[in-house]
Amino acid sequence: MSEKILVLGASGQIGTDLVEQLRSGYGNDAVVASDIKDASRAIMESGPFEVLDAKDGNRMLEVIQKHGITQVYHLVAMLSATAEKFPEKGWELNMESLFHTLKLAKDGYIHKLYWPSSIAAFGPTTPRTETPQFTVMDPGTVYGISKLSGELWCDYYHKKYGVDVRSIRYPGLISYKTEPGGGTTDYAVDIFHKALKDKRYECYLAEDTALPMMYMPDAIKATIGIMEAPAEEVKIRTSYNLSAFSFDPKTLAGHIRKHIPEFEMTYHIDHRNDIALGWPQSIDDSRAREDWGWKNDYGLEDMVSDMLKNLK
Ligand code: SER
Repeated sequence: MSEKILVLGASGQIGTDLVEQLRSGYGNDAVVASDIKDASRAIMESGPFEVLDAKDGNRMLEVIQKHGITQVYHLVAMLSATAEKFPEKGWELNMESLFHTLKLAKDGYIHKLYWPSSIAAFGPTTPRTETPQFTVMDPGTVYGISKLSGELWCDYYHKKYGVDVRSIRYPGLISYKTEPGGGTTDYAVDIFHKALKDKRYECYLAEDTALPMMYMPDAIKATIGIMEAPAEEVKIRTSYNLSAFSFDPKTLAGHIRKHIPEFEMTYHIDHRNDIALGWPQSIDDSRAREDWGWKNDYGLEDMVSDMLKNLK
C-alpha cells in the first residue's frame, strides 16, 4: 500500500523539519501538513496543507478521509513552561488530541501512529544520570504528567486493541528553521540567535543545570526511523528513551565562544530552572539502539558549528 501521511502540528519546531523530510522521502503530495496556523512558506508551497485544530476529532476524521490518510504523526503539544501557566488548557490539548488519534487508529481509519513523549515524563526521584528505560517516573509538571499518561494510554491501545503506535522520549531539541515555544529547553535554541545578533545572552537556567539534548536532524532521523522499522522490532509501546549528548548552559556558552570569542553569558534564573532540575541530565537509550537500530549522527560540537553556519 502506498502511504499517505498526515502531520498534526506541522507549523511547530519539529513539524517544520519533519514535513520537509517526509516530503523528500514519500513525495510532496503524499504528506499532508496541518496546524491551526499556517506552516512555513516551504511547507505551504510544496504540498497539501489543511487547517486543523487537533482538539476537533470530527475535523481530524474529515481530513483523514478526504486525503486517504494511512499514517499520522501527532506533534501537537503545549510544552512544559506554557502548560505550567495554563494547566487545564495544557492537559486538554495534550490529551484530547492524543485520544482522537488513538481512537481513529482503533477504529481502523489509520494504521500507524506516531506520538512523542519527552524527558519531562521523568521526575525528581528518577535517577538523573544515564536514566534507564524502565525506572521511577513521577513527573512534576502538567506537560510531564500528560506525557507519562499518554505513554501509558499508547501502550494500552497497543495491547488491548492492537493499535500500531510508536513513540520516542525526545530530549531538548535544537534547530534553526523554527524557534520552539514555551519549553524549558528553549534557551539552547535562543542562545544561538542572540549570540549572532547581540553577542550576549541572559540565561534563565543556572550555569550547571545539565539536560539531555539533540540536534533536529537526528530527532527527525529517529522519528522516521521508528515509524519505518518493522513492527516486531518496536518492542516498547510506551515510549523509547533517546539520547545524543548532554550539556549545561556554561558548557554550551564555552562552545559558542570558540566561534564567537566575544560572546558573553549572564544569568537570571527563573522557575524553569526548577522544572529542569526535576528532569534527567543524561539518558540511557540502549534499548532504542538495540531494538530498531537508533544511532545519532551529531555530537555537541557538530551541532554548534552547524547551527551557527545555518543561522548566519
Ligand atoms: N523540550 C520540551 C520542553 O522543554 C520537553 O520535551 O518543554
